[in-house]
This record gives sequence, structure tokens and C-alpha cells, in this order.
Amino acid sequence: MRKNIVAGNWKMNLNAEQTRALISELASVQLPENTRVLVAPPFVNLSAALEAAAHSSVEVMAQNMHQAESGAYTGEVSASMLTHLGVKTVVLGHSERRSYFGETDALLAQKVQTALNHHMEVVFCFGEELAERENNTHFEVVASQLKNALFALPASTWSSIVLAYEPVWAIGTGLTASSAQAQEMHAFIRQTIAEAYSASLAQEVSILYGGSVKANNAAELFGQPDVDGGLIGGASLVAADFKGIIDGLR
Ligand code: 13P
Repeated sequence: MRKNIVAGNWKMNLNAEQTRALISELASVQLPENTRVLVAPPFVNLSAALEAAAHSSVEVMAQNMHQAESGAYTGEVSASMLTHLGVKTVVLGHSERRSYFGETDALLAQKVQTALNHHMEVVFCFGEELAERENNTHFEVVASQLKNALFALPASTWSSIVLAYEPVWAIGTGLTASSAQAQEMHAFIRQTIAEAYSASLAQEVSILYGGSVKANNAAELFGQPDVDGGLIGGASLVAADFKGIIDGLR
């Protein structure tokens, strides 16, 4: 059975001390059955995060990773560096990586492959921009992002893939997709995976929604049959708000 997941993307926020403090608060939360909670601090705070999360059910993931094994890539971080620390999951394809750092589907396909080669789990982010929704090309855009970055993978690797649909127009804007819009797109994503692979594989993939999820809209979004939790930005930086969002899974 696919898992329900609430994941916090802390982006470029919090120092090591604040990271430890926030994880300590989250560590006391009793999770509902079949549920995971993950947080993604910046690279420099991963060690502090792993220490603070040890012996708790909070899992720590990275926000990004380079596709190469090692080499002359100043400022970058490799999969083996992450796994050596104890990081088992990496977020790839976030819209901020795509738009500010020029990450393309082709590059992301390489990053995903590298992560899988290192037995890491991938939280793969994708989603349309506002103009694409307004043009009514959002389904096409999402299908092509999935196809270009993921559909060359063998079915056996999909147990290490979590999807995060994040419509760009909803990220950090306070404009959440309605629960009907989220469900419509998540059902389309699951159907697209079923067509590329099989219905049973599609049923096992957790598909998270991201974009202005807050404690007051989480339960309705997460209550949709194809929404298996969320990837949270701003509201994951405040313990009470993030806990409220986790409560949305109950
Ligand atoms: P917000 O929750 O701040 O809209 O950010 C969503 C996001 O980008 C998570 O990756």
C-alpha cells in the first residue's frame, strides 16, 4: 500500500541550531499509521539534521544533488557524499532548480539515474506554470515532464520514486490549487503512469501535492483519493504549522 507523506522543503532557510530545534519539536509528533515525515534542510545542515532526527521517525532528505559521481564541479554535492552521511532521499526537479538554475528534464533524468544507482529514493517535483494552466496545456506539460525525466526507468525502480506535483503558480504565492484541481491532476498523473507501466504500479506510487499547503487547507487536499500528502515550503518552517499539516493526514 502506498504511503502518506508530509515532507518539508526548507529551501535556503534556518541555520544549524534552528534546524536542530525544529526537528526536535517534530520528533515528538505521533504519526498516523502508514505515514512518513521528511524534512529537507540545505546541505550544510544535513549532519545537524541527521543527529537531531536520530531515534525519531523524522527522515532527512537533501534538496538537490549533482549527476556526476565526483570531479571538478565547484560548489556541488554528489550522491555518495549524501549516502555516506546517512541521507537516503533526495528532492530533484524542484521548480526553483528548474527556473533559477536551468535544470531541464534531460538533466533531471541523469540526476534521477545517479540517485537510483546509489540506492537513494527520489522525490521528483514537476508542475505547470501559470501561463500553461491558462492556455489549458497543463496536462500536456505534466505528462511530458514525467515522460522525459522518468519513463525510461525500468518498472522495478519505481518503488524508489515519490512524485510531488507542484503547480508553479501555487508555490509561495498563497494561491493553493483547489482540492478539485489537485485531485484532477493527481488522477491524471496516476493514469499516465498506468499507461506507461501498469495500473498496479501506478497504485503504489505516492503522489504529493505542493504549493501553499497550510494547516487550514491540508486536510481537504490530503482527503482527495489520489493526493497522498504534501511537499511543504513556508509552512514547514514553523513547528506548529507543520504539525497542523501532519494532522491533515489523520
Ligand atoms: P510553499 O509551501 O511555500 O508554497 O512552497 C511549496 C514548495 O515549493 C515545496 O517544495
